[in-house]
Amino acid sequence: MMQFKSLMGIVSVCAALVLSGCNGDNSSNSNNQVQEKPKLQPIVIQGALPVESERMASKLENVSVETIGGWKFWKGTYKGYPMVISKTRMGMSNSAAATAIAIQHYQPIAIINQGTSGGHDPDLKVFDIVLGKYTTNIGAFKTPNKPIGGGSNSLEWNEAFDVLPEDESDPEPIAIRKFEGDKELLVAAYKAKVHYSKGQVVEGTIGSADTWNNELDRINFFHTKYGTSVEEMEAASVAQIAQQFKVPFLGVRILSNNITNNGAYDPATGEACQDYALEVAEQYMKVKAEAK
Ligand code: 5AD
Repeated sequence: MMQFKSLMGIVSVCAALVLSGCNGDNSSNSNNQVQEKPKLQPIVIQGALPVESERMASKLENVSVETIGGWKFWKGTYKGYPMVISKTRMGMSNSAAATAIAIQHYQPIAIINQGTSGGHDPDLKVFDIVLGKYTTNIGAFKTPNKPIGGGSNSLEWNEAFDVLPEDESDPEPIAIRKFEGDKELLVAAYKAKVHYSKGQVVEGTIGSADTWNNELDRINFFHTKYGTSVEEMEAASVAQIAQQFKVPFLGVRILSNNITNNGAYDPATGEACQDYALEVAEQYMKVKAEAK
């Protein structure tokens, strides 16, 4: 009889383990006696370069490092919340690939793309941070027709090229496609503001392309026509992939340079933005954990 009882005990423990395994990473066990943080899917925070990612990675606990193709991921916890730090490498293709891999591999609750950027708004200074209410591709255009010898003037490129058309058999030009930042991530990003003293934090539009613009007329064109606050090379590409997988997304960009007001490049901005992004992620995960 004793043997039967202890056997039943083992069976029920095993059943509970199997059941909690079946629930997957998404759920918490309501019968848990121990008060632990509810299980959430990890939040992914991306940075293109080592100076935009390694500080966050160094702050994770229980870290494991994974390299998939050319992309590095650090998986661990920050203040008890599951997080994945992703080094996307620079540019639109690298960041798109890193995003698709992260979504398939880690099934994240949300994605934050953060890092350095160049100012388009003369009112913004180096170390100011832009929260991407909108993110937009400033590299996809249909140019006007010009004959041989007609030259080229990018200030005349008035038609944005839509890479996500409704009707793929007949792509129509659009004014411009703006990806909206996720509202809950934006709320978390605002909460993080109280801890930031190195500059101001504003809402704005992040413009992305595989281009580093140093022509002030071109920069002014983007700023006045599309409302860009800053430019960089990844966020809109990440937004485009995240949208198609229906994963909440936010871009958070610090100004490392701003040639519209002689703001010289400062490499220390990369670390400051990582600290800010970790704070945003913590605030977001706190709300998600409370809602569980
Ligand atoms: N223009 C374009 N990209 C910039 N970056 C920082 N400043 C700028 C700028 N003015 C970021 C990009 C890329 C790397 C070159 O730095 O996102 O990852």
